[in-house]
Amino acid sequence: MNVYDSERMSEALGEDGYEETLNPSEADMILLNTCHIREKAAEKVYSELGRFKDLKTVKPSLKIGVTGCVAQAEGDEIIKRQPLVDLIVGPQSYHNIADLAANAVDGKKQVDIAFPEEDKFSVLKGKRSAQRGPSAFLTVQEGCDKFCAFCVVPYTRGAENSRPVIRIIDEAKQLVQSGVKEITLLGQNVNAYHGDGPDGNEWSLAKLIWELEKIDGLDRIRFTTSHPNDMTPDLIEAHGQCKKLMPYLHLPVQSGSNKILKRMNRSHDAESYVSLISKIRDARPDILISGDFIVGFPEETENDFNDTMSLIKEIEYGQAFSFKYSTRPGTPAAERDQVPEEVKTARLHQLQDLIKQQQKSIQDKMVGREVQVLFERTGRFDNQLVGKSEYLHAVNVTDPTISVGELKQVKIMKSNANSLSGSLSN
Ligand code: 5AD
Ligand code: SF4
Repeated sequence: MNVYDSERMSEALGEDGYEETLNPSEADMILLNTCHIREKAAEKVYSELGRFKDLKTVKPSLKIGVTGCVAQAEGDEIIKRQPLVDLIVGPQSYHNIADLAANAVDGKKQVDIAFPEEDKFSVLKGKRSAQRGPSAFLTVQEGCDKFCAFCVVPYTRGAENSRPVIRIIDEAKQLVQSGVKEITLLGQNVNAYHGDGPDGNEWSLAKLIWELEKIDGLDRIRFTTSHPNDMTPDLIEAHGQCKKLMPYLHLPVQSGSNKILKRMNRSHDAESYVSLISKIRDARPDILISGDFIVGFPEETENDFNDTMSLIKEIEYGQAFSFKYSTRPGTPAAERDQVPEEVKTARLHQLQDLIKQQQKSIQDKMVGREVQVLFERTGRFDNQLVGKSEYLHAVNVTDPTISVGELKQVKIMKSNANSLSGSLSN
């Protein structure tokens, strides 16, 4: 979502005369868009900020801003710790950035971390464009009301909020007109989407997907990230029936231990997750399942961890993200008995080894199959293009007849460490 937000900020600032540069020494303003989900990400902000000190010495008019969830969570504490920062803007205030930047002169620091009533997207300026390739993100929902005991999202992104259907459709059409072929719908809790529909009713994510499917020129739809409890029957059915909805589902479970899931306040158990995945696979047998795991959550015993390993064996993941539990100030789990760091590290390695095996075995099974690839960029070698299959595997093809932005049928010939290689099917 930070990638999407950064694009929107850049497009909006473009309307106010700013131009994007990838060279910091050329910049009049540098915005660091930040993540607060784990301590490591949050700490990185300060080391990054330190790197801008010399630039500001050379050019004192340079404005430095911190946006995103670290800005939201830490507010003007950031300026106390790093006085070179001029503006602090939380995720719900991006539409104010140009004004805040204009006021950030003569050492006047600007801080906006309000949760305004108005929907920032309805006031954010700028046209959506496909400068960044044929695959684009589109935020449909933000925030979360689930309050998992480890997570800062409900505090930093705020309460769950869905954008109206009509705005999403308009934005999707703008993207498609500028050449986008694949849209990934975003939300911290995307499958809890319940936006106002044009018919006056609340629409579910599945209904929104069916509406997007009608857009000519849009070939692929994806969504992330989902919560198991919001995997409604209409969404499962869409996975079976909607041709443009790709066979890939990121459905975090976090742990396989019912004791831990309860303490995480996940409000689902391991068995319900397993049976949910089996229903989804009944609807779409080839779907690739991805997940998120946290190891070393407070009070996690070896038995609890083994339950997670058993669940992984049962599901067989094609992809997964796994993390050591990171204490986040202000969340309920931060106050509990912590698992020693070395235990967390050992468990993470064990879990990642298992996931890697599963990932590799699923990827290897693609050899000999025909997949549809959306080519996103040129590769390292002459005439090589890199794209994504329906299952989100990276696929390399060397062929001078292909261009970025094209969708082609590809026969997979080889499975590499982190990608597949193939050639165009006849
Ligand atoms: N520690 C470790 N991982 C976390 N996540 C969220 N909060 C924490 C935390 N405090 C992980 C979860 C979530 C993903 C986005 O980040 O697995 O699904
Ligand atoms: Fe965080 Fe996801 Fe839980 Fe919401 S559902 S609190 S975003 S982990």
